[in-house]
Amino acid sequence: MNIHELNSLHIIHVLSAIGLVGATFYACAGAPETRKKVLMWGGIASLLVILTGIRMWQGLYGFAGGWAIVKVVCWLGLSAFTGLAYRQREKASLWINLSIVLTLVALVMVYVRPF
Ligand code: HEM
Repeated sequence: MNIHELNSLHIIHVLSAIGLVGATFYACAGAPETRKKVLMWGGIASLLVILTGIRMWQGLYGFAGGWAIVKVVCWLGLSAFTGLAYRQREKASLWINLSIVLTLVALVMVYVRPF
C-alpha cells in the first residue's frame, strides 16, 4: 500500500466515522421526515468505515490484532443505533450514551492497541 492510498484511506475512514456518529446523534433528535435521508447517509458512512477499515487492517497488519475485531463490534453497534433511535425515540439518551461509549472504545483500540 503506498502513502497516497494510506492517507486517502485514513481521511475517508475518519470522516466517515464522524459521519456515522453524527447520524446517530441526528437520529436521536431529528424530525420523523428526516429518517430516510439520515438512514441513507448513515448507511453510506457505515459502509465506508468498514471498507476503509478492513483495507487498512489487511494492508498494514495482515488481519492481525484483536483490537480491530473489537472495532468491528463497535462499528456494528454504532451502525444499528441510527435506525433504533428513530424507532425508539424514548430511549434517545441510551443511544447517545452507548454511541459515546462505543466511539471511545473504538478510539482506545486504535490508539492503544492493547491486544
Ligand atoms: C466506528 C468506529 C470507528 C472509529 C471511531 C474509528 C476511528 C479511527 C481513527 C480515528 C483512526 C485513525 C488513527 C490514526 O490517527 O492513525 C482509525 C484508523 C484505523 N481503523 Fe478505525 N475506526 C472505527 C472503525 C473501524 C473498523 C470497523 C475497523 C476494521 C475493520 C477499523 C480499522 C482501522 C485501521 C486498520 C486503522 C489504521 C490504524 C493505523 O494507521 O495504524 N476501524 N480508526
